[in-house]
Amino acid sequence: MRALLLENVHPDAVAVLTAAGVEVESAERAYDETELLAALPGVELLGIRSKTDLPASVIAAAAELVAVGAFCIGTNQIAVEAANARGIAVFNAPFSNTRSVVELAIAEIVALTRGLTRKNADMHAGVWDKSAEGAHEIRSRRLGIVGYGNIGAQLSVLAEALGMQVLFYDTADKLALGNARRCASLDELLENADVVTLHVDGRATNRDIFGDEQFSRMRSGALFLNLSRGFVVDHHALRAHLESGHLAGAAVDVFPTEPKGRGDEFVSELRGLPNVILTPHIGGSTEEAQQDIGRYVAGKMRDYVVEGSTTMSVNLPHLALPPRPDGHRIAHLHHNVPGVLAAINGTLAEHKVNIEAQLLGTRGDLGYVLTDVAVDYPPVVLDELSAMDETVRVRLLS
Ligand SMILES: NC(=O)c1ccc[n+]([C@@H]2O[C@H](COP(=O)([O-])OP(=O)(O)OC[C@H]3O[C@@H](n4cnc5c(N)ncnc54)[C@H](O)[C@@H]3O)[C@@H](O)[C@H]2O)c1
Repeated sequence: MRALLLENVHPDAVAVLTAAGVEVESAERAYDETELLAALPGVELLGIRSKTDLPASVIAAAAELVAVGAFCIGTNQIAVEAANARGIAVFNAPFSNTRSVVELAIAEIVALTRGLTRKNADMHAGVWDKSAEGAHEIRSRRLGIVGYGNIGAQLSVLAEALGMQVLFYDTADKLALGNARRCASLDELLENADVVTLHVDGRATNRDIFGDEQFSRMRSGALFLNLSRGFVVDHHALRAHLESGHLAGAAVDVFPTEPKGRGDEFVSELRGLPNVILTPHIGGSTEEAQQDIGRYVAGKMRDYVVEGSTTMSVNLPHLALPPRPDGHRIAHLHHNVPGVLAAINGTLAEHKVNIEAQLLGTRGDLGYVLTDVAVDYPPVVLDELSAMDETVRVRLLS
C-alpha cells in the first residue's frame, strides 16, 4: 500500500504508517490540481493539510484512493460528497489542538487582566510606568465561557485551578465541571462575567450572534476573547465598545476574512487598539498539536486500512470490530437502501461461508458492513458482492 503525505505532515504520521507496512512518500508543500492528478495514480492513502484543495475532479480520477487524511481540523478543502460517491474515507483531527487553544486563552486572560499589552507598548516606547492602576490578579474573577464543548470545558478546569470562578452558557445540556456554574441564558452570563470568552462551534446559526446588543450587556471594564470562529462576532461593534472604554480589552484569534497566505496584508477594524491582542488564527498552532494531529490522523487511516475501522471518520458510518488476527474481514460500503444486509448474507450463505462476526452501520446515504469470515471461501464471493447494484466499494482485509 502506498501513501502520499503533503504539506509537511508531522514525521510521527510517517512512523505510524510505515510501522503498518505502508510505503510513504512525503512532500513539504501543497499540490495543485494538476500535480495531484499526476501524483495520485497508485496512491491509496493521501494526507493533506489545509492548503491542498481536493476537488471532485481529483477524487473522481484517483482510482486507487482508499482514504484521505486531513492533518488539520477542518475538511472544507475536500469535496466530501465526491469522496462518499467513491467510498473514500475521510479523517481529520478535530480535538488534537484543544489544549493549545486553552493555554492561549489562559495566557491572554492573564495578560489582559494585568494590562500587559499597554505596559509592553509603553516600555517599547521608552516609558517606565510602574503603576498598579488597572492591573488585577485573575484569582476570584468571574470567567464566562460561551460554548462548553471540548475547549470550553477544558478551559473551565484550568481557569478554576488558577482561582477563577467559572460561569458557562451552552445551548446543549452540558455537565458542569468542578465548581463551574451553568447560566440559564447568555444574558445572565454576560451580566455577571468579568471575562467573556467564546468557544462555540461553526454552525451556520452562530453567524453574528455576538454584536452591539451582547457587548452592551457585558459589565463595564470586562474583557472579551474570541478564539472560536471569526464570523460569530461583529468587529465594528467590538471596536466601538473598546474605544468607548466600556470594555477594558480584548483578544481575538479568528476573523471573518483571513489572509490566504503568509505575508498577505491583514485587514481588520481591530488593528491599532492598544488594549487588544490580535493573533493570526494560531490558537491551535503548536508543535505539540501538530505532533498529536500526525499521530491521530495516521492512526485512523491505519485502522481503516488494516481493520476497516471508521471510528471518527468525517463521512462514513462509524463502525469498528475488534482486531482479527486470523481469517478474513470483508468491508462492504453501499448505498443505504433496504435489503443490502440480507443480500450480502444471502450471497455468503449461498457459498456456504460462515459469518463469525458482523456489524452494520448507516450514515446518511451510506451503509457499511464489516463481516468476519473464515479464510476458506471461494473468491467468486467477493466478485458477487462487488457486482451488487447497491455496492459502492468492497475491500478484503486480512
Ligand atoms: N483558534 C483556533 O485556532 C481554534 C482551534 C481549534 C478550535 N477552534 C474553534 O473553537 C470552537 C470550539 O471548539 P470545540 O472543539 O470546543 O467545539 P465543540 O463542538 O466541542 O464545542 C462547541 C460547543 O459550543 C456549543 N454551542 C454552539 N453554539 C452555541 C451558542 N450559540 N451558544 C452557546 N453554546 C453554543 C455547543 O453546544 C458545544 O458544546 C470551534 O468553533 C472550533 O472551530 C479554534
